[in-house]
Amino acid sequence: MKRIVILFSGNGTNLENIIQQLHKKNFDGMEIEVVGAICNKSDAFGLKRAEKFGVQTFVIEHKKFTNREKFDEKLVEQIHSLNTDLVVLAGFMRILSPIFTQNISSVINIHPSILPLFKGEKAMEKSFESPMKIAGVTVHFVNEQLDGGEIISQMAIEKFDDEEFESFQKRMQELEYEIYPKAIIKVLKDGQVFHNK
Ligand code: GAR
Repeated sequence: MKRIVILFSGNGTNLENIIQQLHKKNFDGMEIEVVGAICNKSDAFGLKRAEKFGVQTFVIEHKKFTNREKFDEKLVEQIHSLNTDLVVLAGFMRILSPIFTQNISSVINIHPSILPLFKGEKAMEKSFESPMKIAGVTVHFVNEQLDGGEIISQMAIEKFDDEEFESFQKRMQELEYEIYPKAIIKVLKDGQVFHNK
């Protein structure tokens, strides 16, 4: 049994997709359980999505902590108490300090760009506005550099000249729903840890 925890901040469509595709399912003899969903915002819609599937939720509001390190200490404590094999960031909009990256050994993230392009905020918008003819999403290990860890997998789509942002965003999200569960299975199967160094 592999235990994963999902960290998120908002809508939680990736969270819901991961739960739907992986939670309590068996992959060639490897069962995956989503043992918790941790959110830094008490009004995030994703909390309802997790609860719908009976996944335990934990709200740790960053604004209640005096600094980033104290918030990260609490996150680490909560994650350790869940005894997880892998931490999955899915729209978790916080920069992680060394307190987090040095104490949690296996963390992955999804980012809506073809990394190393368009790191940081508004990557979906930057991917849309760039003169490039393709755009895509990346799953990567998390290290102390923002969107900087080793790349696990990427998928790309062609951009259409007349396409509206909403339609583009929808196609990018479809890619995310396809790539992220597969990447999670791969990382759990490979048994890779300490990739955040
Ligand atoms: C996703 O598009 C994800 O790639 C992005 O936030 C969105 C969350 O959507 N993450 C980042 O930009 C991280 N830098 P969701 O809450 O509906 O899953």
